[in-house]
Amino acid sequence: MARTQVAIIGAGPSGLLLSQLLHLHGIDNVVLERQSREHVAGRIRAGVLESGTVDLLLQAKVGERMLSERLVHDGFALGFAGSSFRVDLKRFTGGAVSVYGQTEVTKDLTDARLAAGAKLIFDAGDVSLQGFEGPQPTVRYSHAGRTHTLECDFIAGCDGYHGVCRRNIPAGASQSFERIYPFGWLGILTDVPPVADELIYSNHERGFALCSMRSPTRSRYYLQCPLDENLEQWPDSRFWDELRCRLPERVGESLITGPSIEKSIAPLRSFVVEPLKFGRLFLVGDAAHIVPPTGAKGLNLAAADVRVLYQGLVEHYRTGGTELIDRYSEICLRRIWKAVRFSWWFTSLTHKFSADPFNHRLQLAELDYLTGSNAALASLAENYVGLPIEDMKS
Ligand code: APR
Ligand code: PHB
Repeated sequence: MARTQVAIIGAGPSGLLLSQLLHLHGIDNVVLERQSREHVAGRIRAGVLESGTVDLLLQAKVGERMLSERLVHDGFALGFAGSSFRVDLKRFTGGAVSVYGQTEVTKDLTDARLAAGAKLIFDAGDVSLQGFEGPQPTVRYSHAGRTHTLECDFIAGCDGYHGVCRRNIPAGASQSFERIYPFGWLGILTDVPPVADELIYSNHERGFALCSMRSPTRSRYYLQCPLDENLEQWPDSRFWDELRCRLPERVGESLITGPSIEKSIAPLRSFVVEPLKFGRLFLVGDAAHIVPPTGAKGLNLAAADVRVLYQGLVEHYRTGGTELIDRYSEICLRRIWKAVRFSWWFTSLTHKFSADPFNHRLQLAELDYLTGSNAALASLAENYVGLPIEDMKS
């Protein structure tokens, strides 16, 4: 029977980053990923990194390409009532965000893990967990036509919202909190220059729109759409026409259009499960929480969980101490709930929730207040760039 110190379920950003950081600290780990390497590498996700996430990638020694290719943004724009207003992140926080696609983060982490000879097992099927409430957890999985059993000290459930780890938690041992939004995001990726140098979040009576990017020559755009929207009803021409309608006129006029190279619809939800630790099983990243992408917090929250867990495991293997791993849930949930609140608030402010014109007037009044108040702008800015990484010992 094979053995490792930490079994990591899932090779998304959470699992790969945890694996790399543990490896650098001499902690043996095995990553079990259900999908193929190509499937994982082909995922298109968000692309805004907080400085804390940048720092953690640098700690993991996978930040070189990110530092050379990222776009550093000192601000973003809010579009509403026909015009746009720049939120000056640097002025209110002294900080900035980095635009660098999650696809690239995953590639950098995968390349680093494989170069280091990591036990990174793709196409691992039928993962099941046993004994994680005792001192000797095991993980069973199938691979290359055989069933394997892996003994370990700890299991990191980095297997996302639809993963197996959260479902292994004994009934009644956890509490879930969820809000499903009555709309989704229709997103396209296209190789044309972005319409602006910084992101634009647009509140419009027809619905929300977001102008983002991956590089000076690759743009990423989103439109709020009904949950039951049919992608086949959205040829590129319709997408561009609708996007132009939802942007401030001056912005829409300078929109450069082109063929989509990826087009998809994603639902929006807020979700948290408590607690995040069950015996020797830890839930990490999307396995533990989901936020609407409006605040660009998903990947950054996952990185924050990884930071707490890897430091707790390093403490344990170095000193035998368990303070950090015992407090994993408490420490992570404080940041998680503040990010869930911010993402819910920013989504509520910018998206169309009903045809009731009263709701839209309320949103416009809040945007008018927000853009006229330094206090309100400072609050928006410090949440967007990422709240300070708190001292975990406090
Ligand atoms: N067995 C093994 N692997 C699994 C299983 C399973 N039963 N179920 C899911 N997985 C894998 C998925 O194939 C995926 O590669 O776990 C990985 C989970 O990765 P993510 O869903 O990307 O979650 P996470 O790594 O926490 O990253 C969070 O990803 O989806 C975005 O918006 C999200 O930016 C956030 C980030
Ligand atoms: C993206 O570029 O995909 C993106 C950027 C900012 C967000 C959400 C998505 O808030």
